[in-house]
Amino acid sequence: MNTPGNAGVPSDSDCRAGEDAGAPGDAPGKAAGLAYTVSHALLDSTLSRFPGRRMNPLVRSFHHTATGTWTHVVVDPSTQRAAIIDAALDFDLPSGRVGTESAQRVLEYVATTELAIDWILETHAHADHLSAAAWLKRQLAKGSAAPAIGIGHAITSVQKTFKRTLNLDDQFVADGRQFDALLLDGETLCIGDLEGQVIATPGHTPDSISYRFGDAVFVGDTLFAPLAGTARCDFPGASAAALYHSIQRLYSLPDATRVFLAHDYPAEAQEPVSHTTIGAEKSANIHVRAETTEPEFVALRTQRDATLSVPKLLWPALQVNIRGGRLPPPETGDQAYLRIPLASEGFET
Ligand SMILES: [Fe+2]
Repeated sequence: MNTPGNAGVPSDSDCRAGEDAGAPGDAPGKAAGLAYTVSHALLDSTLSRFPGRRMNPLVRSFHHTATGTWTHVVVDPSTQRAAIIDAALDFDLPSGRVGTESAQRVLEYVATTELAIDWILETHAHADHLSAAAWLKRQLAKGSAAPAIGIGHAITSVQKTFKRTLNLDDQFVADGRQFDALLLDGETLCIGDLEGQVIATPGHTPDSISYRFGDAVFVGDTLFAPLAGTARCDFPGASAAALYHSIQRLYSLPDATRVFLAHDYPAEAQEPVSHTTIGAEKSANIHVRAETTEPEFVALRTQRDATLSVPKLLWPALQVNIRGGRLPPPETGDQAYLRIPLASEGFET
C-alpha cells in the first residue's frame, strides 16, 4: 500500500553504487571512483547556499532545444559525486549526421564543477532523441573509472519488441546486456552520500522508471509540466491505465517534492520549464489532477493519442537507445545504417 512520502517503495538499506560492469564494446570494467578531485572551496560554498538540505540533491538541467529534452545532472553536495539523467545526442535526420555538441556542454559543466559521475541513467528508451549515454561513458572513462549506465529492467521487453519490428539479426541480443544495471522497482541507488530509490512508472512505455533522490524526483515522460499534461500511451507495451497508476504513486509523494521533467516544449519566446512540484501537478495538470479518476484519464489519453503523429525520430532513436546509446554496428567498412520498417500494406510494386 502506498503511503505518503514513500511512493509505495519498500525501504532498502542496500545502496547500489554505480560501477562499470564492462558492457560489450567498452573498455574492461573498472570500479567507480573519483573522476575529478573534490573541490572543498566549491563544496563549502555549495553547502552554505543550501543550509539544512544536505540530503537533497543539487540539480543542474540542460535543455536540448532540437528535441525539447531535459538532461539533469544530479549532484550530492556533500561529496560532489553525481549522476546524469537522460542525456541526448544531436542528430540531423536528413543528413544522418550524429553530433555531440549538446552532450559536450554537460561534460564541460561536470569538468568545471569538478564532479565525479557515478551513474548515467535513463528514465526509459526514448523515442524522440538519441541517448548520449554510451558516448558520455566513454568520455568520462578516459583516465578515470567509468560510470555505470542504468535503465529499468523492462528495457528487455522494449528490446524484444523492436528487435522483432526492425528484424534485427542475432548480433543484437535482447537481454539488457547493452546496459550496466537493469534497475528494479524499490531498488536503492547511491550517488555519494545521497540515497535514491527507483520507482517503476510504466504506462508511457513498459520500461519507464522514475528516480527519487531526497526532495527531487526525476519522472521521465510520466508527467509533463502542468499545462502540458502527460505523455502519449500508444507505443508498443504502453498503457494509459498503467500510466494513471504510476502517476498515483508519484502523487503520494509530499507536495513539495520537486518534479524534474524529461521534456518541455515552450511556446515561442518562452523559457522551457525544467521542474515543477507534486503539489502543482496535483492541482493543475491538465490531464490528471488529484481528483481525476482512472476512466476519465484513460478516455482523455486514448482520445488524444488517436490524433498524434509518429515522432520524427522514432526509428533512429529506438535503434540507438535499445543499444544503450550505441549506433548500430557498421555493415560496410565503418559505415553504419538505420532501418525504417515500411508500412506498405496495399501498395503494389
Ligand atoms: Fe518518451
